[in-house]
Amino acid sequence: MQTVNTLHMLRTALAQLRASPGTRIALVPTMGALHEGHLTLVREARKAADHVVASIFVNPRQFGPNEDLDAYPRQLAEDAAMLAAQGAALLWAPRVEVMYPAGFATNVSVAGVSDGLCGAARPGHFDGVATVVLKLFNQVAPDMAFFGEKDFQQLAVIRAMARDLDLARPHVDAIIGVPTVREADGLAMSSRNRYLSGEQRAAAAALPHAMRKAIAAIEGGTDPRAALSGLEAELVAAGFTSVDYAALVDSRSLAPLQALGSAPARLLVAARIGGTRLIDNMAVGEA
Ligand code: PAF
Repeated sequence: MQTVNTLHMLRTALAQLRASPGTRIALVPTMGALHEGHLTLVREARKAADHVVASIFVNPRQFGPNEDLDAYPRQLAEDAAMLAAQGAALLWAPRVEVMYPAGFATNVSVAGVSDGLCGAARPGHFDGVATVVLKLFNQVAPDMAFFGEKDFQQLAVIRAMARDLDLARPHVDAIIGVPTVREADGLAMSSRNRYLSGEQRAAAAALPHAMRKAIAAIEGGTDPRAALSGLEAELVAAGFTSVDYAALVDSRSLAPLQALGSAPARLLVAARIGGTRLIDNMAVGEA
């Protein structure tokens, strides 16, 4: 696997990968600090494409002023070894000045789907995500791109951007969401789990547990508002500091739902444990 960090090197390496006509390239965008969830994306991408290009870029534009940009784990050599072991062909790891040269002045904002949930708690976050992902799409021009469903709202924002801007590489239908990979106790894998102390990590397992319980209640006919307040109380009792939101939404529009109907529904939760913010989501009513 080759690692490149300038646009010139990237274009040269991509031209080599595309040397034979019809070659299909998949992009797996990441911020590094890779775990099994990311490696699953690479494996899925390998099944679907001839070559996988992974990117690692800790994107400053998607972090708020009081967030963990400086603390975010950076381990490029270790990540590169993991990607190579999974058969990725190319690693695109630009520095901040390459992604955002002096004078960079463009912002991509996807209204509506970016506004509530994590968008309300983290103003500007999804503009930063949309801006960098559109740049990555333009830089790599992949036939398809793979994202984890763990960041469910992020995936909806990226799909809305691809649809609204008529992106061709990748086309909106080639933006693939991959189910969340979980630890043995059900906690969704996340690069931020490493911030948790031993005690916090044990308490964090209450999140998927409380979500499953709330889903079973909603599916059994309990009013979603009652099930969601029960979920919040259970998280606080387990040691979570606060709950940013616990919401039952339409899976496609992310609009809040008062009750289950014919549209596919999803439970989305963001909650803080100490200084760490954890998010998770699960399908509701699909059993
Ligand atoms: O999900 C992530 O790791 C990031 O938000 C992404 C999509 C790589 C954009 O920086």
